[in-house]
Amino acid sequence: IRKNRKISDSRREKTQEKRLPVEKNAGKPDLFKRPKSSQKSNALTPKNQSQVFQLTRVGKLTEFVSSLTHEISQPLTAILSYAQAAKRMLGGREPKVQEILQYIINDDLRAAEVIQRFRTLLKTGESEINPLDINALIDETVLFIAVDAKVRNISIKIELERNLPFIRGDRIQLQQVFLNLISNSFDALEGIPFIREIFIRTFLKNTETIQVEVTDTGCGIPKHNISNLFARFFTTKTDGLGLGLYISRAIVEMHEGVLNVKNNAARGVTFYFTLPASKKANP
Ligand SMILES: Nc1ncnc2c1ncn2[C@@H]1O[C@H](COP(=O)(O)OP(=O)(O)OP(=O)(O)O)[C@@H](O)[C@H]1O
Ligand SMILES: [Mg+2]
Repeated sequence: IRKNRKISDSRREKTQEKRLPVEKNAGKPDLFKRPKSSQKSNALTPKNQSQVFQLTRVGKLTEFVSSLTHEISQPLTAILSYAQAAKRMLGGREPKVQEILQYIINDDLRAAEVIQRFRTLLKTGESEINPLDINALIDETVLFIAVDAKVRNISIKIELERNLPFIRGDRIQLQQVFLNLISNSFDALEGIPFIREIFIRTFLKNTETIQVEVTDTGCGIPKHNISNLFARFFTTKTDGLGLGLYISRAIVEMHEGVLNVKNNAARGVTFYFTLPASKKANP
């Protein structure tokens, strides 16, 4: 029951009304600060104007999330310490009330974790759009998780098409997409006794589009789950939050790409996403 739950809008409103007073103007100036990317927009040619608009929106979203998480984190910390104090004061008395206080503590911690995940995954406030070599980013990311893969006895293979055009994007955010997909593959390969492999591939789909694929030989996805996979809070893991794919898709879409999944013919799944090739010559 604790999985896949959604807070209804009315409950959300109530929470808002009852929230504890927070620092006046906390986080507010951030909302109005011009995103870094728009400050640079003068340097871009009119050809890229639609991209500029897109990138400004990315900046706005990350800054909004940053302010929001800041505002919510404070009352959450307060609720946690009040509940913990009340529990301590009760000592061994009132076991029923103690149980309820523990629910409050657990739910508070879970909410704080969700916020923390958003923060890390969107690297809020640091959105920076640059020309990127997606192959170099993959090499870097694979290096980053190589030790982890080795410990898990998983081999990572890469096949990157040479001389791909650059893309324009946020390095950290796109790296998060790879890390999310790879960490899901790690989970899917847990306990698989056959080939334990992750295969990362890039290629030019057409003159304007680069495609990236992350394939694994893991447990695969039951047909009935495929349509829910990218929904917020959808998870089949006991310790999952169900945010990885939701946020990954949001990041890819913010980069004007599409992220999707298919089961492989033999074993495991392939997550694949597109990114528009930058029209400007490579720097
Ligand atoms: N490579 C994969 N192989 C099999 N199933 C997968 C794979 N990737 C994702 N899934 C399924 O999709 C669900 C949602 O994935 P998602 O990354 O959004 O959340 P999570 O991994 O459960 O939790 P979180 O990423 O927030 O820690 C997973 O719980 C799992 O059931
Ligand atoms: Mg995940």
